[in-house]
Amino acid sequence: MSTPILQARNVTKTYPGVKALDNVNLTLAGGEIHALLGENGAGKSTLIKYLTGVHTADSGSLLISGAEQTFSNPSESTEAGVGVVHQERNVIREFTVAENIVLSRTPKKFGFIDWKKVNSEASRCLAMLDFDIDPSTPISKLSSAQIQLVEIARALYTDTKVLLLDEPTASISDAEAAKLFKVIHRLKDDGAAILFVSHKLDEVYAHCDTVTVLRDGKTVLSDAALADHPHDEIVNIMVGRSLASLVTPERSVNTAVDPVLELRNVTTTAGHGGISLDVRPGEILGLYGLVGAGRTELAHAILGRERITEGELLVNGKPAKIRSVKDALHDYGIGYVTESRKEEGVFLDANITRNIAATTWGKLAGPLGVVKVSDERALVEKYVQELGIRISSQDQLAGQLSGGNQQKVSLAKWLAADPKILIIDEPTIGIDVRTKRSFYELIWGLADQGLAILLISSDLAEMITLADRIAVMDSFTLAGTVENTRHYDSMSQDVIRLIHAKAPSH
Ligand SMILES: Nc1ncnc2c1ncn2[C@@H]1O[C@H](COP(=O)(O)OP(=O)(O)OP(=O)(O)O)[C@@H](O)[C@H]1O
Ligand SMILES: [Mg+2]
Repeated sequence: MSTPILQARNVTKTYPGVKALDNVNLTLAGGEIHALLGENGAGKSTLIKYLTGVHTADSGSLLISGAEQTFSNPSESTEAGVGVVHQERNVIREFTVAENIVLSRTPKKFGFIDWKKVNSEASRCLAMLDFDIDPSTPISKLSSAQIQLVEIARALYTDTKVLLLDEPTASISDAEAAKLFKVIHRLKDDGAAILFVSHKLDEVYAHCDTVTVLRDGKTVLSDAALADHPHDEIVNIMVGRSLASLVTPERSVNTAVDPVLELRNVTTTAGHGGISLDVRPGEILGLYGLVGAGRTELAHAILGRERITEGELLVNGKPAKIRSVKDALHDYGIGYVTESRKEEGVFLDANITRNIAATTWGKLAGPLGVVKVSDERALVEKYVQELGIRISSQDQLAGQLSGGNQQKVSLAKWLAADPKILIIDEPTIGIDVRTKRSFYELIWGLADQGLAILLISSDLAEMITLADRIAVMDSFTLAGTVENTRHYDSMSQDVIRLIHAKAPSH
């Protein structure tokens, strides 16, 4: 066998209170796409941070093309041909798209920045992804999916022998992901080694050749051929025990009860027109559509972030005037689990207790408005257990949790608020298989207790598993509604037919 391009040997890394990596081994060969799998908190991102000089390790070694290397900062790893897209967004918001892409090696002429080259180089990288955006656009104007694409373009800027991708497809659309995979396969054919982290096992099986699995910071499967390990076996290896198949409960919604949330022929400042829908207590209404169909914006209209210019919003049969997320919760009992947890879901600088209990101070407060610390802690502990949030203590800052665990904190915060209506936007992005299941069971349990749930998801399988009815959106209008018959194939055809029926012909 030829020398591997990258080899990490016996890497151990401890954060205060957590052994994130425990004697981990990783081998990446050229011309191969290697999956790095493991549950939330298993150590995947920590390993990538070690390989790129963001963090040092307590012990262990790193070899690039057989030669030992120590990266003490990220630019040293870029110099050595290691490209990376981290899980968290990592851009300078005040800079343009082009400036961010060439940051590691800004083109210069006679000692000055060569702006023409900056833009042409950036355009070249963007074109590889078919990403049509003006390179002089400031980053602050972009959506999180667009920023993700800029970061991928940046990883393609220098000649990379090794490309490390930490959940690059978590927040981009399927069409954007397809373009990314095309580039990855081209780099693979050119002999690069690619490391790919994802909780979406379907795409892992579709594109990866080899696999390493981490569990609790240990390598439990090392450099194996993915084809030798079927899906269920890989899940068992990740989880450390066999996972029984998910049992979908018998669900029935009492249609004799009046809806708690109703939109009647609603037009909004975001661009929606003629939207009518309703959700009953105990019902899970799915809102499905392609990225850009206007689903998140509709949630924003309900929460008062966009204005409703025509039509009516009713809560419990009465017209509602909601101006903010705070109004929505306090006056109408509507909770909102957001898709962009980094921007609005989690306070990264606050500890776990504060984050989860943030919505409940009103409820926990005694007659003088004082919240007893022990009550707060007990409530938070309940959700930490229920969702299996991996923390070293409630005092840990949310910013120190793994990506998936931050998502769980955001969810726990809204569940703790005990709302009557819960709007959930892309709840399982970046969440591992086991937690996804406990999350589904939790949602069913909440609906059984009478909570009305409006679920936004781009994952059709998830939608069909969870929703009682699926409202399909397209171009800011409602294309139709599909009742859940639990027959995956016929339902997905119905949903897709609705989207196509609405789509303008070319
Ligand atoms: N800066 C930090 N300080 C303290 N602990 C940390 C820090 N970063 C990560 N950890 C801990 O190290 C462990 C591994 O985290 P890591 O982010 O590597 O997980 P991961 O496998 O990438 O998970 P995910 O799938 O959720 O992204 C977790 O227990 C996490 O809480
Ligand atoms: Mg991670």
